[in-house]
Amino acid sequence: MSKEIVYRNVGEDLCLSIPKENAKIVTFVTGEFLLTDAVIHRISAVFEEEMVLGLKIQPERQSSLQMANTFIPKHLSGNEKGQYLALDLGGTNFRVILLKLDPSSDLDCVVKYYIVPEEVRLGEGELLFKFLADCIFSFLDEFNLLGQNLPLGFCFSFPMIQTGIDEGILVTWTKTFKCKNVVGHEVVQMLKSALAKHKDVDVEVVAVINDATGTMMMGSYLDKRSAIGLILGTGCNASYFERVERIEKWKGKHTGIDEVVVDIEWGAFGDNGVLDFMKTEFDELVDHGSLLVKSFTFEKLFAGKYIGELVKQILLKLIERKVLVFNSKLTSNDWTFTAADVSNTLDEPDLHKILESLRSKGFVSASVHDAEIVHHVCTVVSIRGSLLVSICLASLLRRMNKDDVTIAVDGSLFKLHPKYKKYMELFIRELAPNKKFQLILAEDGSGKGAGLVAAVVTSLDKSVLHA
Ligand code: BGC
Repeated sequence: MSKEIVYRNVGEDLCLSIPKENAKIVTFVTGEFLLTDAVIHRISAVFEEEMVLGLKIQPERQSSLQMANTFIPKHLSGNEKGQYLALDLGGTNFRVILLKLDPSSDLDCVVKYYIVPEEVRLGEGELLFKFLADCIFSFLDEFNLLGQNLPLGFCFSFPMIQTGIDEGILVTWTKTFKCKNVVGHEVVQMLKSALAKHKDVDVEVVAVINDATGTMMMGSYLDKRSAIGLILGTGCNASYFERVERIEKWKGKHTGIDEVVVDIEWGAFGDNGVLDFMKTEFDELVDHGSLLVKSFTFEKLFAGKYIGELVKQILLKLIERKVLVFNSKLTSNDWTFTAADVSNTLDEPDLHKILESLRSKGFVSASVHDAEIVHHVCTVVSIRGSLLVSICLASLLRRMNKDDVTIAVDGSLFKLHPKYKKYMELFIRELAPNKKFQLILAEDGSGKGAGLVAAVVTSLDKSVLHA
């Protein structure tokens, strides 16, 4: 049995029964995705170093981890009561949620989805906030809530510099958003200005958070041991409880607070070059084709928005090497491979079914061998993705030094990918052998979590919730 972590844990998923010559080429082209123990340990060391730098006031060099203070000092008490509004912006759907909290009953939610059109996602910032305010107005109108004073939690899932629990300055857009004149601006103020145009809307924005933090709060509603929130969807990020004495850069008053939620913003891990040593030619190609080139290095290695494209780039290479026969008439622009294709391929034990779906994409001359190669490429890319997330999670578990930690997870990749959870459990156990942990699904964590934060905040002393 191999001593290497990858082979010891998931080696059996890597067997290939295609002809030897082709297997050799496939193994060679995908080889770098199966991280060696030396690479794993180096990533882990670099991550830990970047975390420490990110918490300093004047680091020796700029960390790629923002380590943003969210100013959220505690979990729910369980006694919260009342109606709270939550907004969730991050993906192509914007959600408005009404949360009714009552300690004596289950969480009651009303959710409405609004598709954010491309021209809004890529247009003027003011237009985006007008769009959000219009949706909130129509939600309140529909549920007869106009004129009611409601605390609101805003889940804004982009990197922010938070100067307070209800203030966040956008650092950069990510994923599918690139609105003008928002980077460098305080987003809660932009939302408030847009809401002010609706006279009957009487909401009070009490907190701005991101989805990883929301997921942790939702996790804590489900399981009191939750201390890490993870988003594994279109993008990827995590939040965790950090000890206040380690947050050197928090200069403001924080008497009586031991721990606070830190939003790591690990999607950008490696943007300063610290991960260059493990990037493959395929990662470079995915980056070049992305909306925001040369940013969000870590996220682009595996998150939902990119994983399918990564598989496609490897398949193109294998077509070029004539290992995959497919159909030569299709150009690379004629087809796509998405995160859903990756999940469906790995969810399908029957190679003939995978073949059928390849043929339906236009690869009319694909064979069962081709189907097996596609399955293999999806496996290899998924192993690396789940391992990368696990390396960082294991580092967090070691750093937090708590007896038993629940990691609350949300996001389409985690929910729909048939193997991610299993792979992560294996890898984390291997990398943090003495730590007790469990991964739980905290569904709709981002949105509901924002409502829960609004509930927590209303019971807190606001003077300690600022930079
Ligand atoms: C954003 C994070 C967010 C993550 C998951 C990233 O692109 O920068 O703030 O938490 O996506 O949605």
